[in-house]
Amino acid sequence: MFGFRLFRTLAFRIVVVYLALFALSAGALAAFTYWNTKRALEAETDQTIQAEIAGLSEQYQRQGLGGLTDVITARSMHAGQGLYLLVGPLAHPLAGNLDAWPALRRTGSRFVEFEYERRVGGTLERHPARGRIFHLVGGLQLLVARDIRERADTERMFTTALPWSVMLMLSLGLIGGAVMSRNLLRRLDQINSTSREIMAGDLSRRLPLSRAGDEFDTLARNLNRMLDRIERLMKGMREVTDSVAHDLRSPLNRLRNRLEGIMRRLPHEGEEAAEIESAISETDRLISTFDSLLLIAEAEAGAARNSMSAVDLSALAHDVWELYQPVAEESGIVLAMVPSKSVQVRGNGNLLSQALANLVDNAIKYTPAGGKVTIAAERNGAGAVMSVADNGPGISEEDRPRAIERFVRLEASRHSPGTGLGLSLVAAVARLHEARLELGDNRPGLRASMIFA
Ligand SMILES: Nc1ncnc2c1ncn2[C@@H]1O[C@H](COP(=O)(O)OP(=O)(O)OP(=O)(O)O)[C@@H](O)[C@H]1O
Ligand SMILES: [Mg+2]
Repeated sequence: MFGFRLFRTLAFRIVVVYLALFALSAGALAAFTYWNTKRALEAETDQTIQAEIAGLSEQYQRQGLGGLTDVITARSMHAGQGLYLLVGPLAHPLAGNLDAWPALRRTGSRFVEFEYERRVGGTLERHPARGRIFHLVGGLQLLVARDIRERADTERMFTTALPWSVMLMLSLGLIGGAVMSRNLLRRLDQINSTSREIMAGDLSRRLPLSRAGDEFDTLARNLNRMLDRIERLMKGMREVTDSVAHDLRSPLNRLRNRLEGIMRRLPHEGEEAAEIESAISETDRLISTFDSLLLIAEAEAGAARNSMSAVDLSALAHDVWELYQPVAEESGIVLAMVPSKSVQVRGNGNLLSQALANLVDNAIKYTPAGGKVTIAAERNGAGAVMSVADNGPGISEEDRPRAIERFVRLEASRHSPGTGLGLSLVAAVARLHEARLELGDNRPGLRASMIFA
């Protein structure tokens, strides 16, 4: 998976494009060098041949055919790369170190090329040669040439080495690109996984910094600063709602008491009494919203951490089960409790009861009549789990993180009463106890679990 992803990374694509450009320019440079070297070598051979012909022609002019034959014979003795052949009108050899007139190839210039056999260390080898023909009077022809075996070897070396070195360069480049992209990917993966945790709700997480101080660190530092700011804003917003809830709670209570006082003085069946009663229940809803907000604030302030004591989750769950029996019955829901021995955790009993009550309240509220809700408090390895499972509509996976946010009510429950604070309180209580709130699929329905480490 990692390997496959590698090929789609930006870094790898940059490396590939860069390599292609590099290979192209290196190839062009090598071709140019090859062509130039070849031409220079050819020119050198041609010049040598030219010089020899000039020398021989001088000999011929000065000393005639005899002189020329002598020089050719002398040169043929210690010829090195030089090849000579003087033939008569019927192509029979007169002097030189070639046995017979070779089959010549024209080159487009005044030069000819041919192959001849040469004895090297007792074996015959075919060697390439390049030379010129010189016409003398009387139908005589002189071939002056040079062995170009070495030059051809150099050329061949060039043409075989070139593709190999390009291949080597490309593979080294690809390996380098893969290593580079892998490193980049690793850094990006870190950033991505931390971002996911932050998006899942842990706003206190920060992106890791390396010691390199590179662009990724700059990016991480900037994102961290942004997160700091978001966290501060969120905190400020919470503080405002919390203090509003706190300041308005007493006036609201006084309002409720007054309304109750008025109601007591009114005749029971009148229209006014009904109005006042609905005003009282409206006030009750407001008070319970503020209560939830204050409870969340209490759980989040962390002050409750000082009032932690040993709590038996099993007994606590049993109390909530008993408390909600009448509500469940009224809604046509079977409320069951998984029996278990005592499950001890350190915690705030009041907040834990509230959290569990909220989960049970949700389960009963959102499960249609005829459904079943099961409460459980069990040991889980070294820790404990408290869960509420129902067989109602459940929450789709993508809505789960959202459902925990404050004041969020999902589209499906628009018509049922509620403020959208229940799960926020559960999450805050879970955080306070360093527990994890997990909303899972009960197939069908929701299984909400608080998992204590
Ligand atoms: N057991 C459940 N089954 C289906 N949906 C649920 C369940 N529990 C919660 N939800 C969905 O999650 C949303 C948020 O739940 P939450 O308890 O925070 O708010 P609420 O129940 O709407 O209001 P409140 O609890 O404050 O009265 C609900 O509006 C509902 O859409
Ligand atoms: Mg609720």
